[in-house]
Amino acid sequence: MKVLGIESSCDETACAIVEDGKNILSNVVATQIPFHRIYSGVVPEIASRKHVEWILPVVKQALKEADLTLSDIDAVASTNRPGLMGSLLVGLTFGKTLAWSTGKPFIAINHMLGHLYAAHLVNDIEYPYIGLLVSGGHSIICKVNGFDDIEVMGTTVDDSVGEAFDKVAKFYGLGYPGGVIIDGLAKKGNAAAADFPMPKLDGKEHRYDVSFSGLKTAVIHQCDMFWNKDFEKTNENMCAAFQETACRTIASRLFRAVDDTGLKTVVAGGGVAANSRLRELLAERSDVKCIFPPLKLCGDNGAMIAGVAYHFLKRGDRSGIDTTACARIVQFKKGLLRGMGPGKK
Ligand code: KG4
Ligand code: ZN
Repeated sequence: MKVLGIESSCDETACAIVEDGKNILSNVVATQIPFHRIYSGVVPEIASRKHVEWILPVVKQALKEADLTLSDIDAVASTNRPGLMGSLLVGLTFGKTLAWSTGKPFIAINHMLGHLYAAHLVNDIEYPYIGLLVSGGHSIICKVNGFDDIEVMGTTVDDSVGEAFDKVAKFYGLGYPGGVIIDGLAKKGNAAAADFPMPKLDGKEHRYDVSFSGLKTAVIHQCDMFWNKDFEKTNENMCAAFQETACRTIASRLFRAVDDTGLKTVVAGGGVAANSRLRELLAERSDVKCIFPPLKLCGDNGAMIAGVAYHFLKRGDRSGIDTTACARIVQFKKGLLRGMGPGKK
């Protein structure tokens, strides 16, 4: 089954064709970074307009690179949540229209299920495992029982980790997008330069939760208070110390989930899963197998959408023409969540 997957939830216009949930025939990602850089963040209106401009050429390019025509495609999938409303609507409406006009099945996909599936595109992974979803919008630790069967164990109580990277980079004028820039600068710095505070989330209900707003405030407004005076106050040192604290925060809660459940496999996804220090820290536990997607599948892409869509479609799930977009990820509250898909409208 060849699925054409469309992703437009934020600032990448992306389309991929994936066969049987595994074989990536093409994966086109048109990034809008240059258009948002001068604002140090994604401007929703610009993002929507670029998606409108680019969606058709990107889909055409995906077909071209796969050496296929529309008639070779068996089904269409689009991200419909969570994300920027105007951005989501472009890819969703395009996907629904394409499917409707060609008489092919259509399925709407939750972006975070896509991120979790990215590692499955290039690895054979057995369920259950502990999932780590770290992106610009979310920070989630979950028990994953199947491609759409997620038990959320912990989330951020405030900012997402990606947001903290981006805000710190913006404040210090390091450039956009912040995550990858901080990752690069941190390699030239010393993490011991500052002792930024780890979140103090107490109580059983916060056992797996993370928090990044305190860290962000410390780095931005109280840097001197936590600075180790033996070190020069450079961007490189600041980035290294910030990144270390952010990644250790994630690792500590993630390994709690691993130890409490006894599940020794971790699968990561989302833009921050590209972070080199996070990868190093999670590799320190030799008894835990941490699986990361390749770098180009960490950020937003259509292959992860087409990949997970295959499993919904194979099960017979379909989304109707009345399926709409949703900005928030209401389903990702703590607790047992089944049926993360769009249902059988
Ligand atoms: O998954 P993604 O592409 O979009 C969302 O779904 O949000 O994630 C984007 C986020 C941004 O906050 C970006 O700064 C961060 O991922 N990011 C990184 C790295 N590469 C991207 N954060 C830390 N280290 C990186 N190497
Ligand atoms: Zn994403």
